[in-house]
Formats: sequence, structure tokens, C-alpha cells
Amino acid sequence: MKLVAQPMDLDLGGRVVRTWAYGGGVPGRGLRATAGDRMQIQLSNRLPVSTSVHWHGLAIPNNMDGVPGVTTPELLPAASYTYDFVVPDPGTHWFHPHTGLQLDTGLYAPFIVDDPAEPGVYDAEWIVVLDDWTDGMDRSPDQIFADLTAADATTAADGMGMDGMGMDGGDVQYPVYLINGRPPIDPETFTGNAGDVVRIRVINAAADSIFTLALSGHEVHVTHSDGYPVTPRRATSLRIGMGERYDLLVTLGDGAFSLIAQPMGKDGYARAVVRTGAGTAPQTAEIPELAGDPVTVADLSGGEATALPKADPDSIQDLVLNGSMAPYRWTINGATYPETTPLTIRAGQSGRLRLRNMTMMSHPMHLHGHTFQVGAAGGRGPRKDTVLVPPMGALDIAFVADNPGLWMVHCHNAYHAEAGMMTRVDYVT
Ligand code: C2O
Ligand code: CU
Repeated sequence: MKLVAQPMDLDLGGRVVRTWAYGGGVPGRGLRATAGDRMQIQLSNRLPVSTSVHWHGLAIPNNMDGVPGVTTPELLPAASYTYDFVVPDPGTHWFHPHTGLQLDTGLYAPFIVDDPAEPGVYDAEWIVVLDDWTDGMDRSPDQIFADLTAADATTAADGMGMDGMGMDGGDVQYPVYLINGRPPIDPETFTGNAGDVVRIRVINAAADSIFTLALSGHEVHVTHSDGYPVTPRRATSLRIGMGERYDLLVTLGDGAFSLIAQPMGKDGYARAVVRTGAGTAPQTAEIPELAGDPVTVADLSGGEATALPKADPDSIQDLVLNGSMAPYRWTINGATYPETTPLTIRAGQSGRLRLRNMTMMSHPMHLHGHTFQVGAAGGRGPRKDTVLVPPMGALDIAFVADNPGLWMVHCHNAYHAEAGMMTRVDYVT
């Protein structure tokens, strides 16, 4: 199949903005496969700059991982490249460039992998992609990054960037937040029948926004995180970090409802409408479901089926997250990529990474090419590939070194990654 990265005009409720996207839509047309399928995906670059595609959530061979300069050559303008791999992991995944700040344009799309062993007992399935949007509006992602780094000199005194942000609100105030490429004033409408059970696959494709998600008038059940089943957990609202995915089951009520994603610490919200009958969906984020504490990863557990085999780790390595708004610098173990010293692992080993957050914001940490168990192997923690490490918090992740190569591990805040919050796990012999 073919995938084209190209410029396009996106209509945001009447305001047309110029951006980049896959194949003329935001989100791009999603991919769908069944675990075990071989995919050959030809990416053509019609952008004026180099690009790449990373298949977020798929533990595929290292040379298909789409990290320019590490795993895959960068794709020059007018060039094309065929990614060719067997899809290993069922679940709700996605893809995006691994080049500069392109993640904060319209270049993202779902990649849904069906599980032949899990037929799924529900009447309908909806895909919900969350995003914070700036491209083609006030400032381009590159301009935002330039502003963040230029703020160093002028705002060093109060330790905040020019947006006055930097706590859990992320670093950037966005003009608009989107669900499936549409703003709150022109929302996507999902229709169904009262009583239907719907599987909602949620992907946070934002560059700098942690969302709290809720559906007015409903309680949901969280069933999967990053593609892996979790012990079903009731939630009135759910916290979702950048790069994370959650699958929800919900039994639809009768009427019109709003699905709201509120960016933590920021003004504005993303919204879609769910309609099964007459009525008016709430027009604001003031829904009671958002009032309480959201379910977070700390509330979720994996079942025995998703636990890694219990093993004493062969290696325990620290990943200390640090940084500041002024100077705008985000580090792992005291250094910025590519100056970071890669962590190492031997094929077959059990690894444990101790993520320790020395900052006042959450960082969604993502490991390529593997999934990890939050906490110790053999424990109850969910299996994931991206996890929010809370402010001044710490958590361990356990993984099995079963996929040799050089693998990025980084913060999925695009601005933090660009400012250096990346390192690698390198297989050594
Ligand atoms: Cu979704 Cu290294 O990224
Ligand atoms: Cu970060």
C-alpha cells in the first residue's frame, strides 16, 4: 500500500490552515491489519523536507523502526521508501514521523491491528485521535521551539518559558485542540443506538498535551492500554499522555453527549459529539464527569496473561529525567541527545529501567521495539510502550531483550525530545 506525506489545506471550522499530512487528511487514513500480516508500505515524500515514519507500538525489526540516522535512512524530498514487516502486536497503535517537530503537524494516523484470537464483543468501534494544534495558525512548531529556546535569556529569573507554562500544563499554549482533525465548533459526530456497546480506541497524538478524557452522561470501562488488555477498570474520566493509547468499552445512553478531552493545565478542549437520540450535546467542557480524579496508569493492572515472565533483572539501569524551561533543556542522565550515553542490554536478558523524574512535569516515556511491564516483571503492572512518569515521581519498567538493535527511549513531548530528552537502549554482545 502507499502512503504519501504531502502538504494540504485543513479546514478547522471555517479557518483553513496549511499543514502536512499523510494522504490528504488529518488524521491520515489509518492502516488496519491482523496480527501476523505482512505489510509493505511505500512512503513517498512530497514534503519540501526530509521525513520518516515510526510505527509507534509495533515491535518490528530495528531496520524498519523509522529513526533517521539510527535505524533507517532519512527520506529525502521526492524520494520513496518501502517499509516491509510482519505485524506482531494486536492493538491500537499509530504512526508518525521521527524527524524534528513534524509530530506537531498533521502527520499522524492510526494503525489498528486486530487480534485473530479476540473477536471483540461490541456493536461498533470508533477511533478517537486527540491532538493539540498550532500548525498554520499563530506559530509553526519550529517557531514555537525557537521561541522556547530564545526565552532562555529573558526569563531565566523565574524559571518559566515565555508561555508562562512548564508545569504539568506542558510548555505550549495551543490555539485549538482537535478530535479526529476537527475543532470543538465543528465536531466529529459519532452516531449509534442507545444500548449499543462501543469500543472506543483513543490515541493521544498531541505534541505537548496530556488530556483528561470523559464522555458526558457515561461511565466507561478501560480495557486495553497501548494494545495490551488490562483488568477492566471503570472510569468516569481517564488521563492520557502523549503517545499513549487506551481502548474503552461504553454502553451508550439515549440522547446527545459530548466526548471531551481537556488538556491538563491549559485553556480550551477537544470535543466530539456522540448521538443516539434527540437532544443537545453539552457545548462546553463543564461536564460533571471531568470533575473528579481521572483514572491513571497507577489505577490499572495487567492480568496474568500480559505479565512478563518473572525474572530477576539481569541489569538495572537508571533513567533520570531532568531539565528546565530556561535554559530550555531536557535531559536524560544529565545529557541531551545525541550526547547521552546509551543504555545497554544483551539479547535474552531481562532489563529493568528505573525512571526517576526530577522535574515538576510529567514525562510520557516511550521505548521503541519492545513493550514493558510497569513495575517488576511477573507483577500486576500493565504492559505498555509509553508511560507517564509523574512529577518528582519514579517508576520501574521491566522488559525482555528479544529484539536486537539500537532502540530509542525518549520523552513523547515533541519539544522535550527535540530539546534532547532522548537516549537509546543498544544491544551489545
Ligand atoms: Cu511515537 Cu519515538 O515515538
Ligand atoms: Cu518530557
